[in-house]
Amino acid sequence: MARNPFRPTAGATPPQLVGRHDIVEELTESLEDGPGAPGLLSLFTGPRGIGKTVMLTEAGDAALRQGWVTLSETATPGMVMRLSHATTRALEDVDPSATPRRSITGLTLPVVGGGITVSAPPSTVVDWRYDLGRLLDPLEARGSGLLITVDEVHSAARDDLRDLAATVQHLVREERTIALAMAGLPSSVSDLLNDDVLTFLRRATRFHLDDVPLDHVADALRETVIANGRTIDDDALAEAASATGGYPFMIQLVGYHVWRKATGDRITLAAARAGVPAAQKRLGALVHETALADLSGVDRTYLLAMAHDEAESSTGEIARRLGVTPYYASTYRARLIAAGVVVPTRHGFVDFAVPYLREYLREHGARYEMAGRRTDGSS
Ligand SMILES: Nc1ncnc2c1ncn2[C@@H]1O[C@H](COP(=O)(O)OP(=O)(O)OP(=O)(O)O)[C@@H](O)[C@H]1O
Ligand SMILES: [Mg+2]
Repeated sequence: MARNPFRPTAGATPPQLVGRHDIVEELTESLEDGPGAPGLLSLFTGPRGIGKTVMLTEAGDAALRQGWVTLSETATPGMVMRLSHATTRALEDVDPSATPRRSITGLTLPVVGGGITVSAPPSTVVDWRYDLGRLLDPLEARGSGLLITVDEVHSAARDDLRDLAATVQHLVREERTIALAMAGLPSSVSDLLNDDVLTFLRRATRFHLDDVPLDHVADALRETVIANGRTIDDDALAEAASATGGYPFMIQLVGYHVWRKATGDRITLAAARAGVPAAQKRLGALVHETALADLSGVDRTYLLAMAHDEAESSTGEIARRLGVTPYYASTYRARLIAAGVVVPTRHGFVDFAVPYLREYLREHGARYEMAGRRTDGSS
């Protein structure tokens, strides 16, 4: 029997990338154009499961096609150290004749007039910058460059991010062929960009990833099914595509479960109708539970109040339901938007940022209501 081609796993490259070809093209052009091109410093933001990690992989693939070298990291403490080691290894690969670095650790700059010694930055960063320069020499000589991708820039590794930003900025100023692509949740990213030391990152080209168009979803589902030896009926395809809501994680979940429910090589409406609820259930466990676990009890109460509505919620009405002032409610609202769970739709209105979260909360609300009370009582 044909193997299931769908990839409902965080970070897994999908069988077909839906709705992001313009971005890939823009990145590719920038790689071709070299130093100064806007896409060489890029930042992907969006809610969980929207495909941020996948876009970093795509950027890496685009770089590889141009003969570039890519170093991929996650923004957790120790990132600069790990990047530094990866740079050394890449240098050995690219130029085996390169002599090992003469350690410039502990370098002291000349005494400046007045007798004040300017202290050197931490030795790792100095060494790393030096090694990056050495790696870029042979890469540039052959007409390519270096891409660094950093995922989860929302997590707490601010010192590492500062060192990274300073290092890359330095190389950019020297017109070296270096690119930096980063990804993170919108909230934490805006926090980060307000940090003065990270001003440089504010110049990054922002790609805010959104849901993808349903007709693209349908095309991709059909093509993936056919490329893997099956067919799908039109009504089944329509049912499956619309159940994804254009949300990338859900494209993989629906594809995967609809494929599983098919009894033969033809995917029928019955298979689609059986696969969709299975996909929704997994979405709850994989995405909603994690997203809700990251929030405080008060924030979850706000979401529960929103779940009473059929569509977008009035923020004034939510405050009334919660029995708090609109001002107080607006602080939860800001936190939820920052966390990528809620989106503002128009002035005074918000909606859920991920599909089926409303349904999930209605079904599992009682559990979160209890947890919310506990948290409220203790804080
Ligand atoms: N453009 C796309 N087309 C089809 N499937 C996609 C697309 N982008 C992502 N996916 C799929 O969606 C799922 C989630 O993608 P990914 O892990 O990149 O999201 P993320 O935004 O990094 O999430 P998180 O914030 O949790 O890290 C994966 O299964 C991936 O294969
Ligand atoms: Mg990710």
